Amino acid sequence: MAERVRPLQVALLGCGVVGSQVARLMTTHAADLAARIGAPVELAGVAVRRPDKVREGVDPELVTTDAAGLVSRGDIDVVVEMIGGIEPARSLIQAAFANGASVVTANKALLAKDGPLLYAAAEKHGADLYFEAAVAGAIPLLRPLRESLAGDKVNRVLGIVNGTTNFILDRMESSGAGYGEALSEATALGYAEADPTADVEGFDAAAKAAILAGIAFHTRVHLDEVHREGVTEVTAADIACARDMGRTVKLLAICERAEDGRSVTARVHPAMIPLSHPLASVRGAYNAVFVEAEAAGRLMFYGPGAGGVPTASAVLGDLVATCRNRVGGGRAPGESAYARLPVSPMGEVVTRYHISLDVVDKPGVLAQCAMVFADHGVSIDSVRQTGKDGEASLIVVTHRAPDAALASTVAALRRLDTVHGVVSIMRVEGE
Ligand code: HSE
Repeated sequence: MAERVRPLQVALLGCGVVGSQVARLMTTHAADLAARIGAPVELAGVAVRRPDKVREGVDPELVTTDAAGLVSRGDIDVVVEMIGGIEPARSLIQAAFANGASVVTANKALLAKDGPLLYAAAEKHGADLYFEAAVAGAIPLLRPLRESLAGDKVNRVLGIVNGTTNFILDRMESSGAGYGEALSEATALGYAEADPTADVEGFDAAAKAAILAGIAFHTRVHLDEVHREGVTEVTAADIACARDMGRTVKLLAICERAEDGRSVTARVHPAMIPLSHPLASVRGAYNAVFVEAEAAGRLMFYGPGAGGVPTASAVLGDLVATCRNRVGGGRAPGESAYARLPVSPMGEVVTRYHISLDVVDKPGVLAQCAMVFADHGVSIDSVRQTGKDGEASLIVVTHRAPDAALASTVAALRRLDTVHGVVSIMRVEGE
């Protein structure tokens, strides 16, 4: 008679929006998961902060407030960390590795800050660390970068990786609403959290950019090395200016290898992109990421970047992968940071600016403005001037130049007496 296969034991830490869906899918898909893995998978315990809350589909007997006790029980094969934040998640993950378990997490903030520490702990204990759900929710993106593109050279990753801010910008675009009004709508519909800081100030997207850049370029990129600007300063005027010029505004995460290949950059900021660009049609809370690789060319990944059920799909995929490794032997790819490329500051990023100004309408003003660009070594791509009640509205789009030169140009323009107002300043991407 065949020997009965020992069920794999899974400890779930956190049972919120994503964790509860992980528990539900583990139960409803139990037979399929067992067949795909080659062994049954059991929920050994669910660590929560509020044990009295009713959690549909979760056996109350499994619920505990003792997360540390659960991960160090000795019989746990996989710890699924769905708590988020730095502590206690970091200590619990380290304890999981020390106790021989593998880890699946969606914790982007922790990975962007302490990824190398976690990789080292996994390596030391011969365990797996999977985190597909940390970037772009349900969209398979990290595994394609780590595995499918492992033989190629990725030069650029550009995308919309935060659904909340994409929803806000989309509403501003479609309804003409200001930022505050669009944020209120996002909150009312449950897209934005009560404290929306992590999303609207770009922290969430910056953590994702750090993870993406690290994997894409085989180099370490820390959260602090990602230039970050959120959407709180985007105005209805910016959106209107973009629309006038056949563009739209998106919050982009952009990770690039420098042209000489000797350094990389990672940044998150609002940018104008042409309406014809595929990212322009990414609406609502969806995410989409372009990957440009030397041999593969341009690849686009698109889908739901947030939400309990979609994100749980990515977690379950990781759970199956690590359980298969436990059953059949082998390990997840570890950290690949051999390239050790330096991360350049924002000032060295080569980009383009859209600049809309209200200026005095008299002879020499256009020449005076043009001279400011020339003085900073910035070449102008296009200029559009329209009359407006004794003033002129001037829209300049530059050629590519280092961000530091573009920023100095804007500062000098602001100082001109003939410039009455700065209507909109934004980087232009995707052209
Ligand atoms: N809050 C994120 C978003 C999802 O709005 O896309 C989790 O990273």
